[in-house]
Amino acid sequence: MIDFYSQIFKRKSFHQFKDTDKLSEEELTKLREFIAAVTPLDPSIRTKTIIVPESETTCESGAQYCILFYSEKKGEYLRNIGYIGQQIDLYLASQNIGALWFGIGMPEERELDGLEYVIMIAIAKVPESAFRKDMFKAKRKPLEEIWHGDTLGVAEIARFAPSACNSQPWITENTGDELTVYRYKEPGQKGIMPALLTGYYNRIDIGIYLFILETCLKHEGYTFERTLFEDDDTEKALTAKYRYKKEK
Ligand SMILES: Cc1cc2nc3c(=O)[nH]c(=O)nc-3n(C[C@H](O)[C@H](O)[C@H](O)COP(=O)(O)O)c2cc1C
Repeated sequence: MIDFYSQIFKRKSFHQFKDTDKLSEEELTKLREFIAAVTPLDPSIRTKTIIVPESETTCESGAQYCILFYSEKKGEYLRNIGYIGQQIDLYLASQNIGALWFGIGMPEERELDGLEYVIMIAIAKVPESAFRKDMFKAKRKPLEEIWHGDTLGVAEIARFAPSACNSQPWITENTGDELTVYRYKEPGQKGIMPALLTGYYNRIDIGIYLFILETCLKHEGYTFERTLFEDDDTEKALTAKYRYKKEK
């Protein structure tokens, strides 16, 4: 069993891989087994995740492999891939495999068994010392901007979820027994990302955030019932509600 929670503190994006080693066959086998056992947000959406050499993609970050995510284009398929991929990102950190969600990358195959390419994670074996030492030094929005109401000891950590261009497109509102999570895109927000792509990545980001949020809730001893919503494409789009209870 992977302790996902502790990996939130350790993980970081390896924008350029240095001092890399080769993954052993055993590490690759274990990774494939982990990938085969991930929990999707929406099990009705068909997905496929494969591992290819970095040279079979446009990625040039010095990684050894890229993990490619393909999906049926149905419902909130981007959110679903974010949720799946974040489990893998945290697993990789636990195995001292450095990772980078690589939104701008492209593989040779844009389609696989009728499924569309969505995104990739580049990976390479790195020394343990290359991982994050103090997560609280990582740049993030102030807590008040992304969380309203009691933080439950959850918000302080969940805010470190990764996102494309560090855009953190989420707001959580705590009403006392329920968390309401929105995908939020600031109006007129300028960044290096082309506007058209923002909605695409934001939807992956929100799936990433939901997995990290749930990991933090569990760690703080909360049980919860999750309701998911279809994204209505508005500026502040309702994405999920969590009715939560503290276990005694
Ligand atoms: C969906 C997604 C796509 C991303 N795409 C890229 C990318 O194309 N290039 C890159 O250098 N970093 C990419 N990143 C990494 C983010 O810039 C990074 O997660 C964010 O700045 C937070 O930093 P951290 O992951 O080190 O905590 C991506 C991250 C996510 C979640």
